[in-house]
Amino acid sequence: MNLRELTTEDADAVRRIYGGASVRRLGRAEMGHAEAQRYVRQAARWAREVPRVRHILGIDVAGDLVGLVKLDTIAAQGRLSYLLREDSWGRGYATAAVVELLALAFGTLHLAAVGARHRTDNPASGRVLAKAGFVRSGASDGFVHYTARRRSGGTRRSARLPGVSTATRDPAGSAG
Ligand SMILES: CC(C)(COP(=O)(O)OP(=O)(O)OC[C@H]1O[C@@H](n2cnc3c(N)ncnc32)[C@H](O)[C@@H]1OP(=O)(O)O)[C@@H](O)C(=O)NCCC(=O)NCCS
Repeated sequence: MNLRELTTEDADAVRRIYGGASVRRLGRAEMGHAEAQRYVRQAARWAREVPRVRHILGIDVAGDLVGLVKLDTIAAQGRLSYLLREDSWGRGYATAAVVELLALAFGTLHLAAVGARHRTDNPASGRVLAKAGFVRSGASDGFVHYTARRRSGGTRRSARLPGVSTATRDPAGSAG
């Protein structure tokens, strides 16, 4: 499994990820072709922004785009979410992708904390977050909320993912 940037050629794979039981869990309609094309174009625009504050990355398993993981760093605390194509559930891909994205968040992006949430009727998502190191922080409006914090002493590994561009807001203000 590796995380990578989306390209316009991923539109059909994104449409399939946003289908079936995956979107029923999210409470939204299945994605159509036009929306999928807009989605990958928007992801590419966000990838070019400096500083980069929105990451939408593909979860690639041997060339098959099985899911998406997102990190929004507009606020001081990042927000993370994910979506896996139904036929790829239960193989550890969501957990592996969240662990990779947290390494990017705490390493390259220098975030101190990242939040996430899932609906109360989605325990598998809670299990993903717990396995990746998130701690439950509360519940409201049908959602359970979690936070992951950067560990002091640098025990989380720092990551610069090979397939991901990282224009950061680092202390020197440089983009890389
Ligand atoms: C939730 C989701 C991301 C999980 O993806 P995944 O790749 O199957 O996750 P993983 O394989 O890494 O881990 C799933 C864990 O949940 C557990 N699990 C599965 N169903 C469960 C259930 N009903 N109750 C409790 N745990 C459950 C699995 O056993 C596994 O834990 P384990 O490794 O300790 O056995 C995926 O099902 C999905 O995309 N769902 C639709 C969209 C969604 O819910 N997104 C998250 C919104 S917050």
